[in-house]
Amino acid sequence: MEKVKIQLKKTGHAFYKILIGHNFSKNIAKFLRKEFPESVCVIIADETVKKLYGENLRKELKKNGQKVFLFSIPEGERSKNQKYKTMIEEKMLKLRIGRQSVIVAIGGGVVGDLAGFIAATYMRGIPCIQVPTTLLAMVDSSIGGKTGIDTEQGKNLIGAFWQPRAVFVDLKYIQSLSQRQFINGLVEAVKVFLTSDANSFLYVEKHISIILKRNQEALKKVITSAVSIKARVVERDERESGERMILNFGHTVGHALENLSQYKIPHGYAVALGIIIEAGIAVDTGKLKISDYSRIKNLLINKMGIELKTLGAYKPKEILDHAKNDKKSKNGKSRYVILKEIGKVYVCKNMFAHHVKDSAVIRVLNKINLANKK
Ligand code: GLY
Repeated sequence: MEKVKIQLKKTGHAFYKILIGHNFSKNIAKFLRKEFPESVCVIIADETVKKLYGENLRKELKKNGQKVFLFSIPEGERSKNQKYKTMIEEKMLKLRIGRQSVIVAIGGGVVGDLAGFIAATYMRGIPCIQVPTTLLAMVDSSIGGKTGIDTEQGKNLIGAFWQPRAVFVDLKYIQSLSQRQFINGLVEAVKVFLTSDANSFLYVEKHISIILKRNQEALKKVITSAVSIKARVVERDERESGERMILNFGHTVGHALENLSQYKIPHGYAVALGIIIEAGIAVDTGKLKISDYSRIKNLLINKMGIELKTLGAYKPKEILDHAKNDKKSKNGKSRYVILKEIGKVYVCKNMFAHHVKDSAVIRVLNKINLANKK
C-alpha cells in the first residue's frame, strides 16, 4: 500500500492521508470506528455505484456496529446541482442526523464534489471521507478539498474548500471502468505531469500501451505520482490564490466545452481538448516549443484517442465567450495556464494564469479546426 500525506497550514484538520492500494472496505470501517466511533455514517453514491459497491460498504460499516444510511443520486454531471444537494440534506434533517455524523462519498467526481459540499455546509460542517471509484476522482477531484455544484452559468461556481479526513484510493475499482471512463481520468494525470513532472510524462509516453491495458504496477505508479504532485501543490496553496491554478491547465477551455455541450462531453475529454488548445496558445504566444506541442498531441490524439472533430460543433467565438465564465477570469477576461515546457508552467510576477488576447485564442481555435478538416 502507498501512503501520501497532506499537511495543510491553515485549516483546522490540517493533516490527512491518501491511501493507495487494494480492497479497502475493512480499512474504511476500521478507520471510521477509530476516528468517529459514535458517529452516524452517511454514505452518498450515485445509483450505479450504490448497487455495485455502496450496499457492500454499508454492510461492512454496519457489521462494525455503526449506524449507517445510504443515499443515492442519479448518475452523471447533471445531478451535481442544488436540487440534489437539498434533497439529501432534507433526508438527513428528517432523520435527525446531527453534528455527530460523517459523510462517506463513494463514487466519481460528481458524488465527491456534491457530498463534500454537503459535508461542508451541513450543521456548519461535518467530516467527510472520500472513496473515489473512477480514475478521474482518484487522481484529481477527491484530493485537495474542492467541493461544489454546477449552475446554469458554469461548472463548480458555488462551493467550498472542505478537506476530507482521509482518501481511500482502491485500485480494484479501476478494472470495472469503461475505456472511456478510464481515459477520462488518465487525462487528469497527464495534465498534472505536463504542469509539474516531465519524467512522469515521459513514463506515460513510454508505457502508454500497458497503461491503457490497465497494468496494475504501471497504474499504481501513475496514480501515486499524480496524487503526490497534487498533494504538494495543495499544501503550498490550498485556496488557489496562486500555484494551485496550475491544476486548471486545460480547464479554461475544457469547462467552456463541457458547458457548451451541456455536459455531454465528459470532463476529461473536454480537458484533453482544452490542453491541446491551451498548449496551442502557449506555442502561439512563443512560450512552448513546437516539438513539445507535438509530443502532447501525439499522446492525447494518437495514443489516447482524443478526437479533435468534437470541436467542430462549436464556433471559436462561442468557446471564447464561455471561457470568460471561468473562475480564474479577472475583469471579464479569461486567464490561461501557459506551458513553458513539458513539466513546467510559465510564471510571471508570481502569476500562474495569464490573460491572452481574444485574437490569439481565436487564431489557435481556427488553426486546429482547419488542420482537423484536412
Ligand atoms: N481540480 C483542480 C484542483 O483541485 O485544484
